[in-house]
Amino acid sequence: MIDLINVSKAYRAGEMLVPVLNGVSLNIHKGDFIAIMGPSGSGKSTLLNIIGCLDTLDRGVYQFSGQRIDLLGEDELTHIRLRHMGFVFQMFNLIPRFNALRNVELPMIYAGVQPPQRMQRAANSLNLVGLRDRMYHVPAKLSGGQQQRVAIARALVNDPDVIIADEPTGSLDTRTGHDIMTLFQSLNRAGKTIVMVTHEDDIAAYAKRVARMKDGVIEKITYN
Ligand SMILES: Nc1ncnc2c1ncn2[C@@H]1O[C@H](COP(=O)(O)OP(=O)(O)OP(=O)(O)O)[C@@H](O)[C@H]1O
Ligand SMILES: [Mg+2]
Repeated sequence: MIDLINVSKAYRAGEMLVPVLNGVSLNIHKGDFIAIMGPSGSGKSTLLNIIGCLDTLDRGVYQFSGQRIDLLGEDELTHIRLRHMGFVFQMFNLIPRFNALRNVELPMIYAGVQPPQRMQRAANSLNLVGLRDRMYHVPAKLSGGQQQRVAIARALVNDPDVIIADEPTGSLDTRTGHDIMTLFQSLNRAGKTIVMVTHEDDIAAYAKRVARMKDGVIEKITYN
């Protein structure tokens, strides 16, 4: 489903070009659950953002379901993001004044889903992550783990092909982090492809494979 071939990326810092990815090749098939690990600054988030069409590569090839992503413009990338990707971030990124239901509805508003169907699907998605009785709560009235579940419900609501998660347990206590991983694992068993960045070995242990990055390359991939 995801094919990266010799991907390179550098950021401009004033006069300097700072290389961040130095020839990354990675193949992720449908149904995979892969954790990306590595030291701070090794390029994990940059790689994840390229996979999620949030950032673009400088050199190399990115194919998603056979389509050349590296050749697309901003509008087409937005479309791919909306239809095919679901995002989960460390800080949840929920809208504070919206209740859980409205937060989960948001990607469907962008996708042009009509209100009655939107509410139904948002409610189903919240139900799936175990928040049926918290639908009308705003984020401030929810625990960190519950907020991350809302974010996961939001990520799922357009039925994406892949879940892109950057340190999804990074702001959670150990126990809650494991609960979120149990949810990821059940989503993966139901067929969702998951690409996740984490710093923690015991979180990466939930994935099927672990890719280790260093200095902008993938050093090795191991199977759990
Ligand atoms: N938008 C940007 N502009 C300039 N430099 C950037 C940008 N984003 C990332 N970088 C640089 O690219 C390098 C890799 O960053 P990246 O966020 O991919 O690392 P990471 O592996 O996710 O690190 P962490 O574990 O700390 O999250 C870092 O040196 C960072 O400073
Ligand atoms: Mg990062």
